Amino acid sequence: MTDSRGNFSSRLGFILAAAGSAVGLGNIWRFPYLAGQNGGAAFLFIYLIFIFLLCYPVMVGELAIGRAANSDAFGSYSKLGGKRWGYLGLFGVLAGILVLSFYNVVAGWAFGYFVEIAFGSLLNEKDFGSFYFNYVNDIRDNFWFSVAFMTITSWVVSRGVQKGVEAANKIMMPALYILLLSLIVYSLTLPNAMSGVKFYLVPDLSEIKIQTVFDGLRQAFFSLGLGMGTMITYGSYVSKKQNLISSAAVISVADTMVAFLSGLMIFPLVFSQSMSPSEGPPLVFMVLPKVFHEMGPILGKFVGGSFFLLLCFAALTSTISLLEVPTAYLVDQKKIKREYAVWGLALIIFIVGLPSMLSQGLIPTLNNLPFYRGKDALTFVSDTCDIMLTIGGCLMCVFISFQWKISNMNQELYQGSTIRANSLISKYINFTIRFVCPLLLAFLSILIVIDKFIGLSNL
Ligand code: PHE
Repeated sequence: MTDSRGNFSSRLGFILAAAGSAVGLGNIWRFPYLAGQNGGAAFLFIYLIFIFLLCYPVMVGELAIGRAANSDAFGSYSKLGGKRWGYLGLFGVLAGILVLSFYNVVAGWAFGYFVEIAFGSLLNEKDFGSFYFNYVNDIRDNFWFSVAFMTITSWVVSRGVQKGVEAANKIMMPALYILLLSLIVYSLTLPNAMSGVKFYLVPDLSEIKIQTVFDGLRQAFFSLGLGMGTMITYGSYVSKKQNLISSAAVISVADTMVAFLSGLMIFPLVFSQSMSPSEGPPLVFMVLPKVFHEMGPILGKFVGGSFFLLLCFAALTSTISLLEVPTAYLVDQKKIKREYAVWGLALIIFIVGLPSMLSQGLIPTLNNLPFYRGKDALTFVSDTCDIMLTIGGCLMCVFISFQWKISNMNQELYQGSTIRANSLISKYINFTIRFVCPLLLAFLSILIVIDKFIGLSNL
């Protein structure tokens, strides 16, 4: 494929870029705290089931659509199903814009923490809880860190698929694994580390509640970055010679590994300082800095700096794909030059993200949305995105089954692969896309709405 849209140069380049899209704050920030709140190993168990049952087939479906149509999310759906279906692609593009708007705010915090720990005096603080609240509330610093993060993302994406997206992931993904593994080796040598490992790895199945299943399902889907056309867009840059069925498996495993390994790094750290693993969202920003503080000034700076650098790399590999989706749309559909599309979008997305940034205390109404059970705007946007992604994923399955047809998907998948209709894996993908995935995703969308407006625990 040598068209002007760009393409990945190799299978490795594609897999690293797609795995980079999946690996993000979700793996290192959200997965461990959800696991911590939901009984550790029990959560991991549920999570793995959903990766296999739901996420893998949806990823295969998205990749097939993208490669068959060789276009952005909107273009792909319109080409294969008519203009009306194109709006589903557009819905994904909008979801991408919204996800990036709040994601970049959190990425800005991670970037700020990295700089303040490695080169500043953050670890000398006395109370990391109040530091965190002041930090996210007072936007004088983190505004600029967010600007910086968006600028780096835009610069990478503006360089194009091969020289930007692929090249950046080829460096960052291996670096991310190396950092992660080094931190695990270190954390396992700490006193009491094994209690953390035990908490994380020995399942207590009695811990599995409806909330565990809900959180696991939701996290698995978000973590692979599905439902908004990321994999459609990336699939459109992949050559027909490549095997999408096995690539999707490698990408899912690579993503799951990072989530799993993050837990293996974080819980021993937390247990070594006898802290609670169930702190929720602040786990990474409030509990870990205390752990790094206890390590003493030099080691703490080094280990803490490495941890937040890791978080920044993970976030960046995701923000790149999030920006690529709307960029591809503008380049393919509106024939806008890539550079202009990227920088224009970056500005708009940054502005859309301002309410999330200001919602951490600075503007009280945004911090306490009356129609949203008093939660803040960032949570509201992030929850809205989750619903958009699950609806997008559900409709994608409907699209494949009823409009494009499973047989056309299979035809696309069999290119570059020796797998044929009678193989187990092909039957599995067809069955799950037709029945399991749309039902699970419809169920999940409803659960998210109930959880957010009423609260699952109130049921
Ligand atoms: N998967 C990413 C994460 O886990 C987030 C993401 C969502 C990326 C949607 C792309 C699309 O952090």
